[in-house]
Amino acid sequence: MTGLTSRAADVRDGKRVLEVVRESNPEWVVLAAAYTDVDGCEGNPDLAFAVNRDGAVNVAVAAKKVGARLVFLSSDYVFDGKKTTPYEIDDARNPQSVYGRTKAEAEIKLLELMPDCCIARTSWLFGIGGKCFPDTILKLAASRPALDVVNDQRGGPTYSVDLARAIVQLCRKAASGIVHVTNAGDCTWCEFAREIVSGAGLATVVRPVSSRQMARPAPRPCYSVLSPTRLRALGIEMPSWHDALRRYLEEREKPVC
Ligand SMILES: NC(=O)c1ccc[n+]([C@@H]2O[C@H](COP(=O)([O-])OP(=O)(O)OC[C@H]3O[C@@H](n4cnc5c(N)ncnc54)[C@H](OP(=O)(O)O)[C@@H]3O)[C@@H](O)[C@H]2O)c1
Repeated sequence: MTGLTSRAADVRDGKRVLEVVRESNPEWVVLAAAYTDVDGCEGNPDLAFAVNRDGAVNVAVAAKKVGARLVFLSSDYVFDGKKTTPYEIDDARNPQSVYGRTKAEAEIKLLELMPDCCIARTSWLFGIGGKCFPDTILKLAASRPALDVVNDQRGGPTYSVDLARAIVQLCRKAASGIVHVTNAGDCTWCEFAREIVSGAGLATVVRPVSSRQMARPAPRPCYSVLSPTRLRALGIEMPSWHDALRRYLEEREKPVC
């Protein structure tokens, strides 16, 4: 397995992307790279489309040229959040943010270009080693007696370790088309924050607030729970987000070697 970073290739540079894909001669390419600053995308739509849509096309073209299959990581933000039951893979896309539009347009282009590609939509990612919601909450909770967290957005937290395992299984099963990959269960950000704080043994009070009280540049879907129906049909079961969070908190406690 070859792990490539932005230092190896900028996905906007189609020629370089083809070079690095050729060098690693893969059976599968997993495209996780993206401009993921959802609020930043609102102010920089050209950059957002160049990286998230056109960059994804560059990677798909390269994968096709070397005869590799592709898994593209997409997002719950392709949906408008107006449903009240989990989104199925064939529900209509209706993104409300620039970031969501970049991902929705990338999905459409990739499926045209490479009908057997696999679009893995995920949501609310967290993991060791980067900025993520649990990390932010734990850092804030360590120094504050109370935190305000939005309680009117519901989604599915997903541990990067579980997502990675599911992607490996998707490749082994030669999956194609759209599949939703999140940890099982759903919650609001406030409910998630409460479990993070209690799981870490902190006494910080987490107070529910509305999205309106925490206005941000990009609109977020108020409901973006993704249905696992297709994932289950492929024989893949995800652990609950409660279990995933417990393992994440344990992992954080381990000394860095
Ligand atoms: N985070 C979430 O909650 C969430 C939810 C749904 C879907 N997703 C999707 O899941 C994937 C991983 O998300 P993440 O949150 O783990 O992302 P992340 O931590 O922001 O990492 C994104 C990576 O993309 C690289 N990158 C950015 N621009 C690039 C470019 N022009 N060329 C090459 N590489 C570039 C970054 O490299 P540098 O660090 O060097 O800039 C970084 O390594 C993304 O496709 C994202 O859209 C994420």
